[in-house]
Amino acid sequence: MKNLFLSKLESNWMTVKDKRILHKGLHLAITSKDIVHGIEHVMTLRDSYLAFKKAHSSRIKLDERVMAQAIVFHDVWKTQARRSEYFLKVLFEEYFEGSRSADIYRRYAYNFNIDRNVIENVSYAITKHSTGTLFPRRTNEAKLLFDLDELEFFNIERFKKGFNNFKFGVDRKLAAAVTYLKLRSKRGFYFDWSHAMFENRKKRFLEGLDKLRAEISI
Ligand SMILES: [Fe+2]
Repeated sequence: MKNLFLSKLESNWMTVKDKRILHKGLHLAITSKDIVHGIEHVMTLRDSYLAFKKAHSSRIKLDERVMAQAIVFHDVWKTQARRSEYFLKVLFEEYFEGSRSADIYRRYAYNFNIDRNVIENVSYAITKHSTGTLFPRRTNEAKLLFDLDELEFFNIERFKKGFNNFKFGVDRKLAAAVTYLKLRSKRGFYFDWSHAMFENRKKRFLEGLDKLRAEISI
């Protein structure tokens, strides 16, 4: 699985150190306690990242090393944490999850002797990927990580998987998802590519929510 992740990335920048830290992060994703933030999620983000790069060729400058580490570690806190099952606590966790994951990443990165500027850029992107960020994202890597991860919220299959994770009312969760979709429609994404992907998913996502609603007959 680890090699499967690495095999599709360009390898000209990849040193032994890079492989070691990516393997560590992938191991944590494979053994994740959280079903929607494990290896499948990391793989999907990588595929979206590759699709983005294909669409933009070299027009947008991205640091491959930073992107790979940021994708692999961005939800590392969720892979290990015992998540709350209660609505308000979940909101609180969502606000701080980026910086919690960045702290864990930093500890591994220092151990693996990763260059300081890489650590700084990866930590920044991870911290800023979480939805509860007050200030705008300033690097391309942070912007793209946010877009890629955000798109996955509107992946109906993944949404269904996470549906039973929390104890708060399912009707509230469905309503929150629709509200969030409307908010995202207005605020958009950083890159046009992401926005187009979002528009593609929107219909299927709403239909999926309707189906879920009918299944549980609210
Ligand atoms: Fe994520």
